[in-house]
Amino acid sequence: MPNSPIFFTLLLSLFLSASAQQDEFVYIGFSGDADGGGSNMSLNDVAEIENSGILRLTNETSRLIGHAFYPAALRFRNATTGVAFSFSTTFAFAIVPEYPKLGGHGLAFTIAPTKELPGALPSQYLGLMNASDVGNATNHVFAVEFDTVQDFEFDDVNDNHVGVDVNSLVSYPTASAAYYGNDGVKKDLNLKGGYTIQAWVDYDGAEKVLNVTLSPFSTKPSTPLLSFQVDLSPVLLDDMFVGFSASTGLLASTHYLFGWSFKMKGACRSLELSSLPSLPQPKKKNVTLTVAISVTTFVLLIAAAAATAYLFYWIKNADVIEAWELNCGPHRFAYEELKRATEGFRDQQLLGFGGFGKVYKGTLPGSRVEVAVKRVSHESRQGIREFLAEIASVGRLRHRNLVQLRGWCRRRGDLFLVYDYMPNGSLDKFLFRDDSLGQRPRPVLSWPQRFRILRGVASALLYLHEEWEHVVIHRDVKASNVLLDAEFNPRLGDFGLAKLHDHGANPSTTRAVGTLGYLAPELTRTGKATTSSDVYAFGTLVLEVVCGRRPVEPKALPEELVLVDWVWERWTSGRWADVVDHRLGDDYDREEAVVAIKVGLWCSHPSAAARPGTREVVRYLDRGDAAEVPPLAGPPEEYDAGESNGGFDDFVHSYLASSEKISKGSAALGQEASRTCV
Ligand SMILES: *[C@@H]1O[C@H](CO)[C@@H](O)[C@H](O)[C@H]1NC(C)=O
Ligand SMILES: *[C@@H]1O[C@H](CO)[C@@H](O)[C@H](O)[C@H]1NC(C)=O
Ligand SMILES: *[C@@H]1O[C@H](CO)[C@@H](O)[C@H](O)[C@H]1NC(C)=O
Ligand SMILES: *[C@@H]1O[C@H](CO)[C@@H](O)[C@H](O)[C@H]1NC(C)=O
Ligand SMILES: *[C@@H]1O[C@H](CO)[C@@H](O)[C@H](O)[C@H]1NC(C)=O
Ligand SMILES: *[C@@H]1O[C@H](CO)[C@@H](O)[C@H](O)[C@H]1NC(C)=O
Ligand SMILES: *[C@@H]1O[C@H](CO)[C@@H](O)[C@H](O)[C@H]1NC(C)=O
Repeated sequence: MPNSPIFFTLLLSLFLSASAQQDEFVYIGFSGDADGGGSNMSLNDVAEIENSGILRLTNETSRLIGHAFYPAALRFRNATTGVAFSFSTTFAFAIVPEYPKLGGHGLAFTIAPTKELPGALPSQYLGLMNASDVGNATNHVFAVEFDTVQDFEFDDVNDNHVGVDVNSLVSYPTASAAYYGNDGVKKDLNLKGGYTIQAWVDYDGAEKVLNVTLSPFSTKPSTPLLSFQVDLSPVLLDDMFVGFSASTGLLASTHYLFGWSFKMKGACRSLELSSLPSLPQPKKKNVTLTVAISVTTFVLLIAAAAATAYLFYWIKNADVIEAWELNCGPHRFAYEELKRATEGFRDQQLLGFGGFGKVYKGTLPGSRVEVAVKRVSHESRQGIREFLAEIASVGRLRHRNLVQLRGWCRRRGDLFLVYDYMPNGSLDKFLFRDDSLGQRPRPVLSWPQRFRILRGVASALLYLHEEWEHVVIHRDVKASNVLLDAEFNPRLGDFGLAKLHDHGANPSTTRAVGTLGYLAPELTRTGKATTSSDVYAFGTLVLEVVCGRRPVEPKALPEELVLVDWVWERWTSGRWADVVDHRLGDDYDREEAVVAIKVGLWCSHPSAAARPGTREVVRYLDRGDAAEVPPLAGPPEEYDAGESNGGFDDFVHSYLASSEKISKGSAALGQEASRTCV
């Protein structure tokens, strides 16, 4: 009967459900019950739906990615005009960090061309993109990030912020997490507080205005936290996937999603927080309190017993892990975990001897992630404590050209530092032939590889010196501390360790710590490391990379013995091409080589005041234009062995001084060098 109301209802509901599939959906929990929810979310990587219907994007394991997307692509733009449609969405989430107050990393509402986001990285990249495609307009990624870690690389305002990411992780605009109450007063929100937060993202396609609103309650505040003009038409494609991405880093949080409502071209249906599933172990103090009061002393007795048990537990643990150690930023590994990872610190796992201890290769049980574990023996308890404070801050350093510290562990006098494993080892192995060690021959690094390595190390130094919240002085820049990843990108390692050495030493005998040939002359006099002494060491590194020689080459002809002298001599006599590594033949960029030689010589100036700043070094290397590097004012007089203070004599003496601190082989080299020179 075509006229029956039932027919019309049927038709209407058919029509509604058809349009609902394309344009609108509501998930009240994600367990797939009848009430509008659905288990049809596409989950990727570690994302999972728990029995309670809560969608868990990540757990408390480091370096995870979790993706959860609506299964079907949605039409986000008018295919004829290319103009993005309005949309509106709201969702409820909670972030529960492994350690209170230390988030790791965050969650992002995401609109992307795929559900998988191939090539995306965890940690500060939030599972959205990777270091090479950040900022590239071909990404077509739009995200609203809820970030609980401050990444200086991306200019984050703090470790509790909301930001809009358009094809990049540098958010614009961005704001510290907060919401407006009914009274219009702005109140702070703690994203990693472990409680449910509701967020709204509304885009007006006609006005091209995007609003982001937050609240710990179901009612939407009338004032958004972020409201700004942006045209999403060029960012989005016609058909896009919409969902969420979350990641963990060195530190980890569990990222939960409780419900989600979305509508294209209109206002989405609201979510009622009380009807959504709640966290597995709700930490509702108020409830406990009410129960305790209303239920009688019996409960109080149980509580007291529990408290006593907890106290005993705490005391028992307190002498294993001291409270201050818990406050120490990066992940604390269990000793047993590292022991298993390195097969009990077997000799076969030994990667080498760093300046401060042995380095072992390991595979973390569980995740099978390859790591390098450095074992530093240290007696002084005070030193350890200060050093750990340093590790806590160093653990927050993030730069693509720094070796990432994953965590640490302490056991008696031993400190273990866990770093990312770098498959191609250290730069020195590629630069210098060391026949004596019977190593397998390494391929010759091409010029583009060398120049990229120099640029990378310079940019890491600039980050340490000027771009991070404190000035970090590396103190031990040298070829063996530059590690190479699978693509031969350089990663500077071992920062901060030189300081540990300082802490341990008896103050009356404290001397400059560093490595033969890389020590700035003034360092041996004053013992005070500065950014300028790092620049000096970098200058030495530049010359080594260009020439493929050590700073002091005992096997070379006497006039070529000290690398910097020889390069100066060839530079001033206009025969600079002689110094470029012969193994390259003619296969190098002459312009870049001149830039590198000039920068190398300039940085190696014996007078700290005459050296360039780190930012200048980066600028000249990045431009690669020889004419832009200011002319060098001839070889400094100090290099001519003579009476001058702080010159060559100190340069040679610094070898002698430092030779006591370094391994036997190099010490012999140092003495040989000074014998021949003096
Ligand atoms: C996914 O599930 C929800 C609710 O169960 C439903 O409304 C929606 O149409 C489904 N989407 C797809 C593409 O199957
Ligand atoms: C976290 O998830 C990963 C991957 O699914 C799993 O291997 C690991 O055991 C989980 N960790 C915890 C603490 O549940
Ligand atoms: C796309 O834009 C054209 C021109 O304004 C309009 O005629 C058409 O209805 C729009 N299509 C959709 C799906 O909104
Ligand atoms: C970065 O991601 C893109 C895809 O967005 C991928 O093509 C590329 O290979 C990735 N790069 C790396 C170094 O993983
Ligand atoms: C952006 O990505 C595309 C495709 O991956 C690539 O061809 C292009 O070179 C990248 N542009 C920049 C500036 O990195
Ligand atoms: C965004 O917020 C502004 C200011 O409160 C408001 O006037 C506007 O209507 C909002 N737009 C959307 C799409 O919610
Ligand atoms: C560099 O590392 C990659 C990835 O592990 C490996 O395939 C390659 O053989 C290494 N190259 C050298 C020269 O060791």
